[in-house]
Amino acid sequence: MILLQKPAIEGGKPERAEYLVFGSPEILQPEIDEVVDSLKKCWIGTGPKVLRFEKEFRDYIGSRHAKALNSCTAGMFLSLLVAGVKPGDEVITTPLTFASTANVILHIGAKPVFVDVEKETMDINPKLVEKAVSRKTRAIIPVHLAGRPCNMDEITRIAEEKKLLVVEDAAHAIEAKYHGKKIGNISDLTAFSFYATKNVVCGEGGMVTTNNAQWAEDIEKYALHGLNKGAWQRYTDDGFKQYEVVFPGYKFNMMDLQAALGIHQLARVEENLKKRGRIWKQYDEAFSDLPMILPALPEENTVHARHLYTPLLQIEKLRKGRDFIQNALHKENIGTGIHFISLHLHRYYKEKFGFKENDFPNAKFVSDRTISLPLSPKLSTQDVEDVINAVTKVLGYYKK
Ligand SMILES: Cc1ncc(COP(=O)(O)O)c(C=O)c1O
Repeated sequence: MILLQKPAIEGGKPERAEYLVFGSPEILQPEIDEVVDSLKKCWIGTGPKVLRFEKEFRDYIGSRHAKALNSCTAGMFLSLLVAGVKPGDEVITTPLTFASTANVILHIGAKPVFVDVEKETMDINPKLVEKAVSRKTRAIIPVHLAGRPCNMDEITRIAEEKKLLVVEDAAHAIEAKYHGKKIGNISDLTAFSFYATKNVVCGEGGMVTTNNAQWAEDIEKYALHGLNKGAWQRYTDDGFKQYEVVFPGYKFNMMDLQAALGIHQLARVEENLKKRGRIWKQYDEAFSDLPMILPALPEENTVHARHLYTPLLQIEKLRKGRDFIQNALHKENIGTGIHFISLHLHRYYKEKFGFKENDFPNAKFVSDRTISLPLSPKLSTQDVEDVINAVTKVLGYYKK
């Protein structure tokens, strides 16, 4: 007979003494030195390091242009704006995403049209995208959830046939490739995130890649009040240059302090992907007998960016629901995340569009069961073991 260990939430001993913060980034000496260098040079706003980061990012992705911003959210918003999405247009996207994917559609004045995800991949279902296209549809925003590339062959085909714009939400997918092509070099515009938990972190930050020179130029101007010259061009030792407002823009520019982190994070991006791949494999092996549906294997000839490890709890086989299990892991001193509760279940979207829980059954299924386990390249062998032991203990205890 196997003796079940009592979880900390039931009065047992926590799996570890120190709290394991979910998504804590790995910041190493090169980043620290680069930030200090910016501080010492007193060029902390948008300047040479942002230009260098843009160039290195462009080279990494293989796109013609890369424009650095203060967030991926700003990137998606400006992408829709410069490509001409207008009030009254419809934009098709997934409800199983972070708020900003749909919020930016509303900020443009357009209408987000949600279609359900595939249960296995958790990415937008292209068959449903095709069905949802109307006379008002102007764009599609696929989201590469957890780092798994969407079915871009089908999405591109639909977009070409129906003459739609594609703006990819690649917040999770910096390293991803789809059928040999790098994400960021497939569609019209692609937005990436460098938020504190992402695969490349700047604290806050984002980047848009595109092969369209006009859109790239417009994004840069819109990100800095609609001025025709940035600070870097205005205040260099060549002397002050006058600027003109060419349209009323926003304040979405990236600072050199952020780029200082990004440059060195980007240099380690592939090495970190390998590290996360190893942790992923350890989890897959350790959890194969637990009441969980493990993340689907990546499709052939694709690279999964392995941003989030998101198994689904088989709640039918457990005595407790997902939120309780998450809290039980918290009591074991293991931090976890939820990616995501489908947007159609959130108050604003539910009330505004009158959604019912089962309007998107697969997104609802995932919302009720998903849990993201720690996957940072910073995790030590002991950290990974602690996660495995805590999950095994808690799920073993509450198994029916
Ligand atoms: C899927 C997805 N899209 C967009 C964003 C927004 O990124 P940012 O915080 O850089 O605006 C996030 C951030 O968590 C995200 O997870």
